[in-house]
Amino acid sequence: MAIVYGGDYNPEQWPRETWAEDMRLMREAGVNRVSVGIFSWALFEPEEGRYEFAWFDEVLDLLAANGIEACLATPTASPPPWFAATYPEAVMVDADGRQLTHGSRQGFDPSSDVYIAKALQIAEKIAERYADHPAVGLWHLHNEYGCHNTRSYTKAATAKFRTWLRDRYGDLDGLNAAWGTAFWSQAYSSWDQVYAPLPTPTIPNPGHVVDWKRFSSWQLVQNYRAEAAVIRKYSDKPMTTNFMTGSHPEIDLWEFSGAVDIVSTDHYLAGEDPQAHVNLGFAADYARSLGAGKPWILMEHSTSAVNWQGRNRAKAPREMLRNSLAHFARGADAIMFFQWRASKQGAEKWHSGMVPHAGTDSKIWREVCELGATLKSLAEVEGSRVQAETAILWDFPNAWAQEHEARPTNEFTAQGIFDAYYAALWRAGITADVAEPEGDLSKYKFVVVPAVYLLSRKGAENLRQFVNGGGTVLVTPYSGIADETDTVYLGGYPGAFRDVVGVRSEEFYPLIGGRVELASGGHGTIWSEAAEPAGAEVRDTYADGTPAWLVNRFGAGTAHYLTTFPDPDTLDRIVAAAAVDAGVAAVAEAPVGVEVVRRAHDDGRSWLFCINHTDADATVKAAGVLIDVPAGEVVVHREHA
Ligand code: GAL
Repeated sequence: MAIVYGGDYNPEQWPRETWAEDMRLMREAGVNRVSVGIFSWALFEPEEGRYEFAWFDEVLDLLAANGIEACLATPTASPPPWFAATYPEAVMVDADGRQLTHGSRQGFDPSSDVYIAKALQIAEKIAERYADHPAVGLWHLHNEYGCHNTRSYTKAATAKFRTWLRDRYGDLDGLNAAWGTAFWSQAYSSWDQVYAPLPTPTIPNPGHVVDWKRFSSWQLVQNYRAEAAVIRKYSDKPMTTNFMTGSHPEIDLWEFSGAVDIVSTDHYLAGEDPQAHVNLGFAADYARSLGAGKPWILMEHSTSAVNWQGRNRAKAPREMLRNSLAHFARGADAIMFFQWRASKQGAEKWHSGMVPHAGTDSKIWREVCELGATLKSLAEVEGSRVQAETAILWDFPNAWAQEHEARPTNEFTAQGIFDAYYAALWRAGITADVAEPEGDLSKYKFVVVPAVYLLSRKGAENLRQFVNGGGTVLVTPYSGIADETDTVYLGGYPGAFRDVVGVRSEEFYPLIGGRVELASGGHGTIWSEAAEPAGAEVRDTYADGTPAWLVNRFGAGTAHYLTTFPDPDTLDRIVAAAAVDAGVAAVAEAPVGVEVVRRAHDDGRSWLFCINHTDADATVKAAGVLIDVPAGEVVVHREHA
């Protein structure tokens, strides 16, 4: 099998003469799959109930004739103008209560029954007509669920929210208890009093807001499931939808990933961040973890600039190759782009494509062809796995709960802390999975718990078992503080697992000056707390003697607990010490900025991907072998005979 290579193909933006050239260029670049139909609803159904598919028959026939597989989309992310004009109540209302209008994309209300019915109708028409077309290899449902409309505050959404809450809590007593409505006279006496949380004069009820976020995420998963059920009537080919693992924490992907046949994701580099390749690593590791380690699809990334970041820089020469191979190294078996041909009109005309505005005499096109050839030469890597003995926890309700405005400090977010600890693992060269607190941790030796403030009793017990059984955890401040209803665990922090970390804190002291010196020479940032060891050994302190880093033996395992967020160098030292306790090591010895990841087949064949993100030539040392990796280049080192 060849590694999948391609991108979103939007032929409707171009005259027919261009289609023939597209086929020729796709073959030249080694493209073997394209996603089609994503934004074609208005052409498929120009007026409600009138369908025009002849043009698209031609597109699919052309692809089949050229040996290019279609990843066929349902176009339900962008309803045509007639939809909003006919069903204005099905258009989304934003968090400020503003009724939005047509004129962009993804403006529908995910809870709207009219929207759902219309989406299922067009999905069914497409499935009926094309399920057996020889070009069709898999299904691409919708596009980036919730990218612009995760939370829509319509009457329809309120009605469904009430039903969802009844299912969750059974009755109003359950709801009132979970949300702590005894506070501020908020007790509900009828379901009609419960609304989507539109703006309030002051701090809203945190339980209400978190449940609304849970509901909104759940609704989108239902929308996917409904489309999938329709397609399944006609086709047994795999179905997916493109997640946004690096950037969009508004949909619970642990829940959503259970609905797809294969995980796919989109990733865009933050062009202004010189360390953006670290976020790429996270997005890729996360996609792999959502599929329990199985190879996944990189459905979209960019050949060069995007158009939505303020200052949209073009990628440096060879940067796109490094990006693509970094995804491949971390388990993607399909490397695809948004989009095949850069548009000359419309909202995304300043977004790069595989065929740029400049045409084929260009850096982009030469690299696109080079990448196609490189992937072809790596065909035997397909299907191999990335092994990780380390996991870093991510939980959506935790992140949502920390968006609440009234908290000990608003100087960090769950995502920000996660990113800092993921980056430390990246710098250490330790390959990590992303795991959910309640997930199976048995295959890991080392688990990082980055500001998992909201931790269910089940999640706390899971971590307790993990450490008790011999695992090592590194726990940051503001972890294990509240349960799944956002109710604080009493008796001293971190109440979910004081016994595991061997520490008890009575109060938090966010750092007014932003910094606390550490006895070891580094410093802490943002946070400090009045922690007392309750069994743990103190490894580092603030200058006044308050513990900063504590280590506790619990059962057969070890818990490292921090009471501040250390500066990066100090954090690197702590991660290194915890990794030693855990018995995990870097994949290879490599200079700073050189990424090394291993992919291996069960039969022992393995490859080391060495990606040099620096301007200097580097040498990587792995299992006694020295591998030269020129500046800015990727070297794929075959380890087996
Ligand atoms: C994605 C989307 C694509 C395109 C791309 C631009 O979010 O799925 O359709 O808009 O971003 O970066």
